[in-house]
Amino acid sequence: MKKPSDINLSVQMGPLTLQNPVTTASGTFGYGIEYAPYCDITRLGGVTVKGINLEPRKGHCQPRIVETASGMLNCIGLQNTGVDVFIKEKLPFFHNIPTACIVNVNGSSLDEYIAVTEKLSDQKGVAALEVNVSCPNVSKGGIAFGVDPLMTERVTKELRGRTHLPLIVKLSPNVTDISTIARAAENGGADALSLINTLLGMAIDTKTRKPVLSNITGGLSGPAIKPVALRCVWQVYNAVSIPIIGMGGISSGQDAIEFILAGATAISVGTANFSDPGISVKILDQIIEYCCQNSIDSISSLTGKLDVS
Ligand SMILES: Cc1cc2nc3c(=O)[nH]c(=O)nc-3n(C[C@H](O)[C@H](O)[C@H](O)COP(=O)(O)O)c2cc1C
Repeated sequence: MKKPSDINLSVQMGPLTLQNPVTTASGTFGYGIEYAPYCDITRLGGVTVKGINLEPRKGHCQPRIVETASGMLNCIGLQNTGVDVFIKEKLPFFHNIPTACIVNVNGSSLDEYIAVTEKLSDQKGVAALEVNVSCPNVSKGGIAFGVDPLMTERVTKELRGRTHLPLIVKLSPNVTDISTIARAAENGGADALSLINTLLGMAIDTKTRKPVLSNITGGLSGPAIKPVALRCVWQVYNAVSIPIIGMGGISSGQDAIEFILAGATAISVGTANFSDPGISVKILDQIIEYCCQNSIDSISSLTGKLDVS
């Protein structure tokens, strides 16, 4: 059996090197710093922070979260500090740690995506940008861009021309053919893709006969979506040649390995952080244990090794 120190855990996401494949998913780990008392963040490959807009946003009113079978629905509506406060108050946390800070970029217009990207691009501590063209909980921007291949390619191309940072485009499962959108992002110049964002859903209160969520619909996440996410990662892996960050219901090392076999180079832990804020490091340890037990020298050698023969 191999020792943990024998295993090469580092992964390459285009120009971005992560010390290991475990990252946290946007919107489920705050701005990183809030989780520091519960989780040794320095051990993670990356933290993807909550989606950032040009101006601060309050998001939707309550109720905006509801538990569902094996998951949850949310309609947070991109509550965030805005880019300037993020840079001043949250980003310094990442200045001296080996964990990559990936900033989730949002906009209700192409101009807003561009402005946020430009503000972040010369900031110390930003390792990469994740372009959220897949948020189902906002009325403008978000998923409106990510369901249309032409818009996805256009947004990606515009941002590509304005930043030297690695560009990761985050895809929605709420489309007919995710491979088409993935290829559009690749054609636009994305360095990597992340998938999946939440699935559009709803919950109803039979006593009041009203929707449970203030926004009526919300995004479904957690173990309930894992089979859909795995299928999307596998389809996209077979459609593009850029690396993938896989996510959707990951709550164990075993889940993470499934995503890597399906084609992910790195993985993100999302909803599982809400029931155990230290779970991402536990998942990393379980990945290491799997590699030791299965004589895997390098985690990246497992990517896409699903045997479909
Ligand atoms: C409460 C909540 C907030 C989220 N906020 C964002 C966000 O700001 N930007 C984004 O791209 N994805 C956001 N997501 C989606 C997650 O990053 C992730 O793609 C999705 O939840 C699937 O992973 P999971 O099942 O492990 O949670 C959010 C998810 C949840 C549950």
